[in-house]
Amino acid sequence: MPPNGSHMRITCPHCQKQYRLDLAKIRPTVKKVRCKACGATFSLPGESAPRQAEIQAEPILAAPASRRGPRRFALSFNKVGMGKTTTAVTLAAGLATAGFKTLLVDADPQGRAASYLGVSPKGGLAELISGDLPPEAALVKARENLWLLAGGNTLAGLRHFADDKASGSVPIIDETIAPIEKEFAFVLVDTSPEWNPLTISVLFYVRELLIPVSMEVMSVQGFGEFLPLLEPVGRLVEGRWLKYILPTFYDPRVRKSIDIYEKFMSIYGDLVCAPIHYSGQLQENQAQGKTVFDLGVRSRSREDYEELARKVAHDPTLFT
Ligand SMILES: Nc1ncnc2c1ncn2[C@@H]1O[C@H](COP(=O)(O)OP(=O)(O)OP(=O)(O)O)[C@@H](O)[C@H]1O
Ligand SMILES: [Mg+2]
Repeated sequence: MPPNGSHMRITCPHCQKQYRLDLAKIRPTVKKVRCKACGATFSLPGESAPRQAEIQAEPILAAPASRRGPRRFALSFNKVGMGKTTTAVTLAAGLATAGFKTLLVDADPQGRAASYLGVSPKGGLAELISGDLPPEAALVKARENLWLLAGGNTLAGLRHFADDKASGSVPIIDETIAPIEKEFAFVLVDTSPEWNPLTISVLFYVRELLIPVSMEVMSVQGFGEFLPLLEPVGRLVEGRWLKYILPTFYDPRVRKSIDIYEKFMSIYGDLVCAPIHYSGQLQENQAQGKTVFDLGVRSRSREDYEELARKVAHDPTLFT
């Protein structure tokens, strides 16, 4: 983009975040910049020298340039038991507690988000897609500022997603959620561990991707296989996704857990969020339909999820 006076607008080619640079503050030797949002490094327009520097300008937008309305996140990884649903539910509860009106969509036939929140909706996403329920009946208020569009096995029977080759299913999630998303600040969509048309439809709807990865050898291998699966979908998503890698089940008493976390940090740098520690208490809370934000006590898990909420909301002052 051409300079305007002493300022220049640039857009990160990776996540589309826009910045306004004050050219007077940038040394002439600086040729490359690193996006604060997604960590990608790219050349200033017309530059190719290898020098790097952090952009000091403030972002113009908090979300990718092409987005209006809520921030749309998917929790996705095609391996079971990574903490996707736990994170979707707890992060949604955290954002709601911080005052953001949040919609949690469960796009998994397992439908666990409702039980983790201790609610029993009559229907949800499947019924909204099929037209069997209007939005006001499909959405259930689970907490102050937090609404749930539940999953469940009726999703598995939906005609739209029955055929693996059904390319017509791609826009369904977007078409279903777009009319009801306007009043929300965040929409978080939990996906099943299966790579199927429903999951792909979710990935086309969202603009940000949170990938929980358990700090174990097997999940690291799985992560390496997941990225090539994402790539062809990501190429078709407008502006691509802003990605976050979330280490889960982190246990600093276990050497392997530390090693794997450090390896992720060294490869993916700023894309890696502060880890969610292993917590038996978290499991017990879920069994009772409670999140860490429902309990009037501080805990390691609550601190972890508060930190994650600060990261995704781009607001270091939340909960302080
Ligand atoms: N940080 C944690 N510490 C201890 N247990 C956890 C933690 N996070 C999740 N769990 C437990 O691990 C199990 C799997 O978690 P969760 O359902 O969130 O994973 P998932 O990735 O959504 O699984 P699936 O792939 O089957 O959808 C649950 O019993 C949950 O209580
Ligand atoms: Mg799950």
